[in-house]
Amino acid sequence: SKKLRIAVLAGDGIGKEVMPEGIRVLEAAAKRFDLPLEMQHFDWAHCDYFAAHGQMMPDDWKAQLQGFDAILFGAVGWPATVPDHVSLWGSLLKFRREFDQYINLRPVRLFEGVPCPLAGRKPGDIDYYVVRENTEGEYTALGGIMFEGTDREMVLQEAVFTRKGADRLLKFAFDLAQSRSKKHVTLATKSNGIAISMPWWDKCAEAMAKNYPDVVLDKQHIDILTARFVLQPGRFDVVAATNLFGDILSDLGPATTGTIGLAPSANLNPERNFPSLFEPVHGSAPDIYGQNIANPIAMIWSVALMLDFLGDGKGAWRSAHDAIVDAISQTILSGPSTPDLGGQGKTPDVGKAIAERLA
Ligand code: NAD
Ligand code: IPM
Ligand code: MN
Repeated sequence: SKKLRIAVLAGDGIGKEVMPEGIRVLEAAAKRFDLPLEMQHFDWAHCDYFAAHGQMMPDDWKAQLQGFDAILFGAVGWPATVPDHVSLWGSLLKFRREFDQYINLRPVRLFEGVPCPLAGRKPGDIDYYVVRENTEGEYTALGGIMFEGTDREMVLQEAVFTRKGADRLLKFAFDLAQSRSKKHVTLATKSNGIAISMPWWDKCAEAMAKNYPDVVLDKQHIDILTARFVLQPGRFDVVAATNLFGDILSDLGPATTGTIGLAPSANLNPERNFPSLFEPVHGSAPDIYGQNIANPIAMIWSVALMLDFLGDGKGAWRSAHDAIVDAISQTILSGPSTPDLGGQGKTPDVGKAIAERLA
């Protein structure tokens, strides 16, 4: 059968350490489940490329990637050499926007064997998805600085929300909730303080909820929502959020499950007009880069999400996804593990253990 094509971009810092483990597991899964895949590596979208070329990617990056079925991404950013907004707007944020990956799906799950930072929580108590709007919202480069250097200095930064953008995000969240047992959507809002866009989001969510009589909609202001992520995580099932709120919630949620080193993400263009992108939630972690102690599980779980998406949640692809998540669970339980999970294992030790369990 026709091979599905995966573009691989490792990026910066620990992206370069966790990507080989993602690929190790991808290869093991492809072998065991006989998945027709081929990979192609690209040596750009990282800050060394910027140093050499004055930009993060070649001019024809879009043409180079457009024909792929998926993009596997590590992490980008090396603020010591390139300002973060330059490296991110020059790579990852371009992918999300130009490839219309409007859903950023970020599962949050407490695994057995992880010491939970929240007292008294066990696996099953924390099991929800952050569904983050991924192409618009607070992430814009619209605005400017005026009267710079004077006592009238002022800055204006716009946020952009479209009805189409809100509706497609909400539809995805409600569909996901409907497929789960709890059938519950939380909307992250701030309609008390942000007087235009957030009451509008509340209305969009209420209108969407009418199409899903069996799903409960719970609108929560983002401030108390963050408190409940910590105090009452069992309340959550599917959390729909704008770009910035979703960004914050998707570090907080995984932190309550022990480490952000586990958290995967799927940047989806559900219509498949463009390749979707799979990457850890975390960044390049300059503070630990070079020691080979980064947890590769976020990367490996992202590989599993990619296979599930490529196979439309069916057949051998779904089996491969499930087997990878099983191998992750078993490895978390019986080791080895990296220091963020209290272990002394190195990045490749964890990757190898997961790949061996799969084989
Ligand atoms: P970060 O996620 O890189 O690191 C935050 C903290 O978590 C650090 O202490 C780090 O050591 C730890 N950590 C992260 N991943 C880990 C892993 N797999 N195992 C163990 N510990 C891990 O966030 P930051 O420090 O805010 O950002 C560093 C750089 O990464 C910046 O350039 C930032 O813009 C970029 N960034 C990129 C992405 C991305 O590519 N998607 C995401 C977040 C941050
Ligand atoms: C993430 C990251 C990015 C974001 C940064 C690096 C621009 O934090 O993927 O969560 O804010 O989306
Ligand atoms: Mn983030």
